[in-house]
Amino acid sequence: MSGQRASGPFGKNKELRRMISQQTIQQILSRIDIIEIVGSFVRLKKRGTNYLGLCPFHNEKTPSFTVSPVKEIYKCFGCGRSGNTISFLMEHEKYSYAEALRWLAAKYNVEIEEKEVSPELRQQQQVADSLYILNGFAGKWFHDTLLQSEEGQDIGLSYLRQRGFNDDIIRKFNLGYSPEQRDAFARAALSAQYNLEYLQKSGLVVVRDDKPVDNYRGRIIFPIHNQTGKTIGFGARIIKSNDKAPKYINTPENEIYVKSKILYGSWLARQAIDRQDECLLVEGYTDVISLHQAGIENVVASGGTSLTVDQLRLIKKYTNHLTIIYDGDSAGIKAALRGLDMALEESLDVKLVLIPDKEDPDSYVRKVGAAAFREFVAAAKKDFILFQLEVALKDAGTDTNRRAEVVNQVAETIARINKAEDFTKRQDYIRQCSEILRIEETGLQALVNKFIRDRIAKQESKAAAAAPSSPEDMPLPQDGEGMPLPGDEESINLLFKHEQNERGMIRSLLDFGLRPWDENTSVADYIFTASADIYDLIDNARLLKILDIYKNWYEEGLEPTIKSFLYHEDQELSTLAVSIMDFHHELSLNWKEHFDGKIATRDDLYKEDVLSTMGYLKLRKIKRLMEENQQDLSKPHTDEEQMVLLQTHLHLKKLERDLMQHLGTVIVK
Ligand code: UTP
Ligand code: MN
Repeated sequence: MSGQRASGPFGKNKELRRMISQQTIQQILSRIDIIEIVGSFVRLKKRGTNYLGLCPFHNEKTPSFTVSPVKEIYKCFGCGRSGNTISFLMEHEKYSYAEALRWLAAKYNVEIEEKEVSPELRQQQQVADSLYILNGFAGKWFHDTLLQSEEGQDIGLSYLRQRGFNDDIIRKFNLGYSPEQRDAFARAALSAQYNLEYLQKSGLVVVRDDKPVDNYRGRIIFPIHNQTGKTIGFGARIIKSNDKAPKYINTPENEIYVKSKILYGSWLARQAIDRQDECLLVEGYTDVISLHQAGIENVVASGGTSLTVDQLRLIKKYTNHLTIIYDGDSAGIKAALRGLDMALEESLDVKLVLIPDKEDPDSYVRKVGAAAFREFVAAAKKDFILFQLEVALKDAGTDTNRRAEVVNQVAETIARINKAEDFTKRQDYIRQCSEILRIEETGLQALVNKFIRDRIAKQESKAAAAAPSSPEDMPLPQDGEGMPLPGDEESINLLFKHEQNERGMIRSLLDFGLRPWDENTSVADYIFTASADIYDLIDNARLLKILDIYKNWYEEGLEPTIKSFLYHEDQELSTLAVSIMDFHHELSLNWKEHFDGKIATRDDLYKEDVLSTMGYLKLRKIKRLMEENQQDLSKPHTDEEQMVLLQTHLHLKKLERDLMQHLGTVIVK
């Protein structure tokens, strides 16, 4: 009965998953016409070089949805959504990346060539596929048992009804019941030819004394789905409370059940989150279900642990607005808050609502009704940073040391908001928090700046470099005169300038990499060899990733362009590529300068473009080296060492001067 490889559902397993080949993807990409694709969903009108229409992602009366056929991207200046043709299909049609590619391939008659995946990966996918099938079977079996068996109805269904769950909602969430008999499910699964090994892996069955027995007995079953609606595991709730047994038994981690990535309810919440541009987060399964029953559908549950980066990123894909609704005295609040500093770095806007009177969202919405629940949430919403501050202050009481700690803590939290576009938000927090703390705003500002500086220093693993921000305010070097150290604001601004220049570098590579540098080499060749280590010139990890992928593709003989990244499967890279070539993005340097009597564009001057961005980054590198050297010089040395350091200094100075002279001729102001 057990052990042997079953045929049945696994014998005729689905065709092994394969990957669409890079060649096919290139073919599809080369045919994409964004105006045609987007235009088949949105009515577009030509405006200058761009097209304009009503945004399909938010309600609007005057069109602010812009599509650029040249850049092959769209952006809505109303709601801020932007992307490429593929992300449009993913967002608008709810396709996966592969589905979008297949849709386009069908449209453009591109034959899909599939590539075998590695044996390890295939093995893993096979296990995953088998687990999905098994879980699907189990979910249905528990559900049928709940609705059709006598025991299911008497114990399971009556419990759920008594808690107020109606039949529609029980069906919608596919709730189930596992009988008390020790192996009811195991028998059913084995006789349907499911294999014992997978039954154990799924956590549904355990082997005791050589006999397979059910892991969940006499419990309500909550199937857990991934974003696309496949069943990845189960939560099984005890019915009669019992001190000895745990309240919930959950699926163990396996190929498809990865706790840190699960948001319960996301498969049903996606569209409502889109519509309302807000995601509600609760603790428990029953909270999600009750809110749905009350017509509130933009809700997911974390499962009562602290939020993980993966969960936050998932939410961030749907919306920028997260509202956490927990019960007031839940131990879960502190756990949840712990993960939230990360939300700031993801530019996620987080609000917090505490449910009063020992209620949880499930019981509260039952008590007051949907309308009052919504009103309460809207009125009780607190900003998460301010909330955290209030809690910490209350905890600290009058203890001065602990209050000082709180100030530090809040400054560190605010310092995490450091994206250029979030600047105003950061300043608002500094103002509000200094009021609550009753301290000088400038004091808090200075402290926040210090934390930002520390972070920069850590990132650069050196002291913040004193590179000039643009050629214009680049002071001419005079021997013996040290560079002034920038103040707080200055060093932050520098960080943004650096980032812009790093982006400029990557943009040059993507735009011009395949063009000739000289007779035998390309711009990409030049970039990869012009500096001892190109990786050394760029700090930003995500830009480095683009650089790295480009280099690998290039060395494999592929011809990467901005498109290859625009349509990259990794959404983070694709978003970055969009932002690198965003509508309003123009180089900080003005290239539209008269040149030999005619207007020269950045395109004509691509070599100069490459030289100047490279030059800037090299200059920064030299400055960093000089600073390091300077620090070495200030330590005690033997005469000989001193000589070497001085010579290094002079050498770097010369490099710097040469570079600046050269840049001067290249940079068109
Ligand atoms: P709760 O104890 O608040 O449960 O735990 P609940 O979902 O509100 O259930 P009811 O209303 O009492 O029936 C919140 C969440 O924490 C996880 C579950 O995901 C649960 O939904 N949890 C709780 C466990 O995983 N194991 C447990 O033993 C308890
Ligand atoms: Mn509850």
